[in-house]
Amino acid sequence: MTSKIQIFDTTLRDGEQVPGCQLNTIEKIEIARQLEKLGVDIIEAGFPVSSPGDFNSVVEISKIIEAPVICALTRAVNKDIEVAADSLKFAKRKRIHTGIGTSEYHIKHKLNSNPEDILKRAVEAVKYARKFVDDVEFYAEDAGRTDNEYLARVIESVIKAGATVVNIPDTTGYCLPYEYGEKIAFLVNNVPNIDKAIISTHCHNDLGMATANTLSGIMNGARQAEVTVNGIGERAGNTSLEEVVMAIKSHHALDFETGIDSRQIMKSSKLVSTLMHMPVQPNKAIVGRNAFAHSSGIHQDGVLKYRQNYEIIDPAEVGVKESAIVLTARSGRAALKHRLQLLAYEFETKELDDIYNRFLELADKKKDISDEDLEILAGREKQKGKRPIELVSLQVMCGKSTIPTATVQVSFKGDVFTETASGNGPIDASFTAVKNLLKRRVRLEEFLIQAITRGSDDLGKVHVQVEHKGDIYYGFSAHTDIVTASVEAFLDALGKIS
Ligand code: KIV
Ligand code: ZN
Repeated sequence: MTSKIQIFDTTLRDGEQVPGCQLNTIEKIEIARQLEKLGVDIIEAGFPVSSPGDFNSVVEISKIIEAPVICALTRAVNKDIEVAADSLKFAKRKRIHTGIGTSEYHIKHKLNSNPEDILKRAVEAVKYARKFVDDVEFYAEDAGRTDNEYLARVIESVIKAGATVVNIPDTTGYCLPYEYGEKIAFLVNNVPNIDKAIISTHCHNDLGMATANTLSGIMNGARQAEVTVNGIGERAGNTSLEEVVMAIKSHHALDFETGIDSRQIMKSSKLVSTLMHMPVQPNKAIVGRNAFAHSSGIHQDGVLKYRQNYEIIDPAEVGVKESAIVLTARSGRAALKHRLQLLAYEFETKELDDIYNRFLELADKKKDISDEDLEILAGREKQKGKRPIELVSLQVMCGKSTIPTATVQVSFKGDVFTETASGNGPIDASFTAVKNLLKRRVRLEEFLIQAITRGSDDLGKVHVQVEHKGDIYYGFSAHTDIVTASVEAFLDALGKIS
């Protein structure tokens, strides 16, 4: 039978501990609302005793959120528990999350105590929390490095004291997946009252294994996973919500399910990233900018033939409209043709070959090719052969302390002509050479250069208007070299003079 895994989101508590990512109450409410839409089961809304701001956020989130349980963190300290209970007073469903360090490191070097005393404090904290709420989660901090026999004794005792959920954090992200799984299995097999509580995973990503450890914990008996959106959290972060949810969803054989509406994943990721000023790395699983982007020709061709050739998740499932076919110098004809079709251009094979060659020339100069670039390439292909005067080559010399000089070669009615001229700049020199060559008396009425998008490697568009014997003629061109674009635009206009 399929087992439900509870998703406990701690973006607003453990995630928010990242330096520089602090949120105000309004921002926390916005994220909590999105988490509710996403379908998380529990929202850990803060650590109320830590600051008035945290207290207030838990209060406000408790007032607004309907379905998920609202959870507040405490240490195993009565004052913390009282404040947490107070902050949860408006919550429809509430949980106190209390606990203490159980590893030898924490017992000796942080708490300056001994295992028996820690066990007693753990039990007292749980009993005290139960006076305020029915749902109490206990965390054994640094359980990842805690001796399993001792951990089992603590867990048995806190369940007896009333804990409904027992959290086994790998606080330092030290465990290997098999070790973490064995730890959970050890508790399942050695804690006599374990069936009275839900085991929760809480993994950190210091060795990049938080997701693997979480899944290993689940496969060995845990039924709650503590996660954050984008894996945000102190140091290397916490387990990523989206990775665990999609791993479970993609692997039916595991026979687990979550209540998450995966189509809300991308929206949640973007919201958290924006409000926390924490960019998502481009290659981040599921939510990275490149997670569904294909740039090599072989992969693009494969995806266009059958998406599953190179994609294990339909991007729509996580709220991404479609896979991105990124056109670069490594893209093939299939990807170019597909993108041109989306832009409503159809070309014969020969035309497509020509456009593909020009596309490769441009892609060598620019990193990414945009739709505007393609419009220009496609437009130029449609006009090919219709321009009576074509630029064959252009050479300019310019710069500080140099007299700008241009040598222009054009083909006109089947013949090629060359001319050199100087001017007050490279464009003026080139235009003078063209005018001398074609012996046309024209006046430049208007000359407009526009960069199409942003980068210095971008295409520049040039529009010109020339006057000849009282009539106006228009010319246009685009090129990464702005002088070339200018001369081509000029020739385009001159070519229209009969
Ligand atoms: O990593 C950890 O141990 C924690 C606990 C406070 C639950 O975040
Ligand atoms: Zn943690």
